[in-house]
Amino acid sequence: MPNWLNDAVFYEIYPQSFKDTNADGIGDFKGILEKLDYIKELGCNAVWMNPCFASPFLDAGYDVSDYYTAAPRYGTNEDLKQIFVKAHELGMHVILDLVPGHTSVEHPWFRESMKAAKNEFTDRYIWTNDVWEAPEGMGSLRGISEREGACAVNFFSHQPALNYGYYRPQKPWQQAVDAPGPQATIAEMKNVMRFWLQMGCDGFRVDMAGSLIKGDEDGKGTIRLWQDVRAFLDREFPEAAIVSEWGEPDKSLLGGFHMDFLLHFGPSHYNDLFRCEEPYFSSRGKGDASAFVAKYCENYEKTGGKGLICIPSGNHDMDRLARTLTPDEMRIAFAFLLSMPGAPFIYYGDEIGMRYVEGLPSVEGGYNRTGARSPMQWDDTANAGFSAAPSEKLYIPLDESADRPTVKAQMTDDGSLYHEVRRLITLRRAHQALLADGEISFVNAGGACTQENETSYPLVYLRSCEQEKILVILNPSGKGQTLSGEFQPKKTIYAIGGEARFSGGAVTVPPRHAGYYLL
Ligand code: NOJ
Repeated sequence: MPNWLNDAVFYEIYPQSFKDTNADGIGDFKGILEKLDYIKELGCNAVWMNPCFASPFLDAGYDVSDYYTAAPRYGTNEDLKQIFVKAHELGMHVILDLVPGHTSVEHPWFRESMKAAKNEFTDRYIWTNDVWEAPEGMGSLRGISEREGACAVNFFSHQPALNYGYYRPQKPWQQAVDAPGPQATIAEMKNVMRFWLQMGCDGFRVDMAGSLIKGDEDGKGTIRLWQDVRAFLDREFPEAAIVSEWGEPDKSLLGGFHMDFLLHFGPSHYNDLFRCEEPYFSSRGKGDASAFVAKYCENYEKTGGKGLICIPSGNHDMDRLARTLTPDEMRIAFAFLLSMPGAPFIYYGDEIGMRYVEGLPSVEGGYNRTGARSPMQWDDTANAGFSAAPSEKLYIPLDESADRPTVKAQMTDDGSLYHEVRRLITLRRAHQALLADGEISFVNAGGACTQENETSYPLVYLRSCEQEKILVILNPSGKGQTLSGEFQPKKTIYAIGGEARFSGGAVTVPPRHAGYYLL
């Protein structure tokens, strides 16, 4: 693992909505450049930027039409390079979003592949050889080309699937992983990575990383493909980091990814914590973290205790934390996020508790995700300091509420969520045991790792490394809790909502409490 990843705390920037400097209503690279100091001051030392390449933006940039050119609406390649340069000056790292699975229908490769005459790009995408035959288990584009056949799509129907081959080809049109078409696709994707790494970026968040090779149910082929990519990176860019949107760390880490994201869909139970009817971190105290912990422990074991599972506060695909949690509840949620292994990811605006904007029409393929992508709220000037454009020209309308949180107000208030997050990041970095590769073992999680305790509150775990052991106690519930356990902490290093008492083999935990105790 590149060293810098061990104490990385990422900040996710959705470029469209971060900071607009040319008054066109859309965020841009110069805006990001201007705000790197802010991110650094918060304590984040790494940035993940959502796709910022040429695109018709039917899926907010996850529909790339040129992998080698920055989207003109954000600026030039040179402007993007300036972000890498300044980030490095500030001791920060920047990862870009690599979308290797599909392109836009407007990509020149796709245009060429639609032609009836065979050419260099005929096998760049997955095509059946009969327009009446759709690829099994996938959506497809049909009736749009002079070429005979249907083209597989990966996500929206304007995102044709690039061809990395089939694990076990069965139909005549399904190509083997080592056939020339799939080999050319992966070679080109390495060129894309090389291009941006040479320009100064520090790695990639990889979109839908587990889905490249088709008919590969247990992921064996895709794992091998990424192992090959990792070998290329180790040879040419040993400091480059790759983080996968895969959600199965036993596979992705084996494939050479340094870290894997915990996903809000699939089997992770991540939503049980923050985004369901009774989230664990609500003070109603009706949530249950046990299924989440059980799944987490299972993955942790499978990765040989390496963990390296990144837990995001949110992202551009899910509801804002503030849709289900109050600012006080979010403090405890952050005490959790910032004390877990792997690298924490903070979605822009979550550090001030930005809200999900209800009732918005879909923008650029956002649909129900649109409300979580609204402009960053910097201050109390026009458009919350996001843009000097007329408000009706903003990419997505702002949160209109009179009491919407802003960076400026929270920075001047020591009791704000912003400052809580900042303190927690500082603490994480001051303690080796809290970093990415520190071990974790759960002490209480409501049935997942303990037998006696009936309740899922509090969540208690130990983070440890050779030098130190830290007991983390999180009781989001409005009720105090007692659990048995022999602990004699030397020092309380963090506490909100009072402190836990340790005596006579019992731990008494106050309501709405988060505490880190040095053992
Ligand atoms: C996952 C991305 O996070 C999401 O925003 C996108 O729509 C799909 N992948 C398709 O690329």
